[in-house]
Amino acid sequence: MEVEPGKAEQRLCARLKLDAEASAYLVQAMRAGVSSRSAVVLSPKAPQGYVPPFACEDTAAWGWLPPRVYVPCEGERPTAHPDYAAGLYYSLDLSSCWESAALEVVPPPANSLDLCAAPGGKTMLMAARYLPQNHTANEVNAARRGILRQNVLQCGLPNTEVTGLRPDQWAAEGRVFDLLLVDAPCSGQSLLCKGIKNPGCLGAQMVNGNAKRQKGIMLAAVQCVAEGGHILYSTCTYDPDENEKVISYILRRVPGWQAVEVPQLAQFRSALADFPCYRLLPQHGFGAGGFCCLLQKNTIIEQK
Ligand SMILES: C[S@@+](CC[C@H](N)C(=O)[O-])C[C@H]1O[C@@H](n2cnc3c(N)ncnc32)[C@H](O)[C@@H]1O
Repeated sequence: MEVEPGKAEQRLCARLKLDAEASAYLVQAMRAGVSSRSAVVLSPKAPQGYVPPFACEDTAAWGWLPPRVYVPCEGERPTAHPDYAAGLYYSLDLSSCWESAALEVVPPPANSLDLCAAPGGKTMLMAARYLPQNHTANEVNAARRGILRQNVLQCGLPNTEVTGLRPDQWAAEGRVFDLLLVDAPCSGQSLLCKGIKNPGCLGAQMVNGNAKRQKGIMLAAVQCVAEGGHILYSTCTYDPDENEKVISYILRRVPGWQAVEVPQLAQFRSALADFPCYRLLPQHGFGAGGFCCLLQKNTIIEQK
């Protein structure tokens, strides 16, 4: 059946510069709410050679799936298994794993900060990739911080401290990290594609409010990165104002930063920016979607 986009849906598709076919797909996905796909990431508790005790998809040809991530076959319920309760793996969105794939080009950091960490998905993905030496999982919301702490404990993450500072407080601290994760609070438009109600998420007021907050978080985040270090910025929303435009604002406003190419994500490169950044839409088939951009702070070369 042909879908007649509503005004807000139409506005979003136009802002994303989608053609008629892609627009119809996205609108249908937002209305149907069945694009969700789950994944699991093995925790440090999973012994060498461990494989999840349920059927998983063959993902070998995808080329971007982060290490120690498995995609359960349809109908499997990973969270119902005792290994989940024992913390051998953590269950999360496949789109979240996709965002974390940008870390493929980042060398193991000596220290790292997940600025917006709860409930802990990105921190788990990072631990699976690097087994970090010195990681801080930070969450401003106290209730969510409790859940984060519980997840960190349950999955046995080593060398991980849980904190609750605001981004501006981190900036004032003066500490610098090799890697920052900024999985920013956003309007969450992709929730619609998972069948989760999110009133107002397509409206200008919600998008503008989030874009302003994201710029503030990023202006603080850039102050917390060591020379040559990275920030992985990600959201689970579609609007360019919360994605490409936040990054372009930071690149214009803060000297000495560049967006980094991620060859593994080349097929997802955004056409809405003249720097490398990546977007996932439901039509790609890897879940409800999201956005990611990897930024690197230049190394200052001393003049003799
Ligand atoms: C998208 S969620 C993070 C999801 C998490 N990274 C994960 O993968 O499980 C964004 C988080 O940012 C937090 N947050 C909200 N406002 C914030 C602000 N102004 N500064 C920093 N974090 C904020 C929210 O409480 C929320 O936990």
